[in-house]
Amino acid sequence: MEKREANKKGALQPAPKVLVSCRGLDGEDNALVVGYCGNCSYAPPMVMVGIVPTRYSYQMIKESGCFVVNIASKDYQETFDYLGKISKRDSNKLKDINVKLEDGKVVNAPILADCPVNIECTVVDSIMTGSHEMFIGKVEYVHADSKLVGLDGSIDFTKIDFI
Ligand SMILES: Cc1cc2nc3c(=O)[nH]c(=O)nc-3n(C[C@H](O)[C@H](O)[C@H](O)COP(=O)(O)O)c2cc1C
Repeated sequence: MEKREANKKGALQPAPKVLVSCRGLDGEDNALVVGYCGNCSYAPPMVMVGIVPTRYSYQMIKESGCFVVNIASKDYQETFDYLGKISKRDSNKLKDINVKLEDGKVVNAPILADCPVNIECTVVDSIMTGSHEMFIGKVEYVHADSKLVGLDGSIDFTKIDFI
């Protein structure tokens, strides 16, 4: 094949898109769409999420030191789009569209109950990479729809219709 130079931004694809939920020190809940994310350690298991400092969620995660990564499937598209478009600064977005929340089992942040996988994380480090601050989260607990989980605990991701 013949090659030519292409754009540098977002060059690594395919990339997952997730919903990150969090809780502020005053107990308020929030969630936003995050496209800058990924696994970043196998042992111990860690994931990272990139948050732009102007996001309302940014300060919440900075202060609480925890977050939840929620994997959404296509039936959650409307909610996903709303949470990625509206800021909590402007509207109580979780209430606006009746997002179903449950408390995390380990961390003090909500999980989005209608997402098939929820990954509870404690922030162990963060690095300002440029436009985003990458929060490194130690995976504390993974909730998965029981229809997806094998006897050994592994999740069958092929069964998720990813957004
Ligand atoms: C496809 C998509 C990917 C996004 N990726 C990120 C991201 O990686 N980091 C980020 O801070 N915001 C990202 N956003 C923007 C936030 O989700 C959006 O600004 C949100 O309204 C912020 O909510 P908040 O201000 O209540 O925290 C993305 C939005 C979309 C639609």
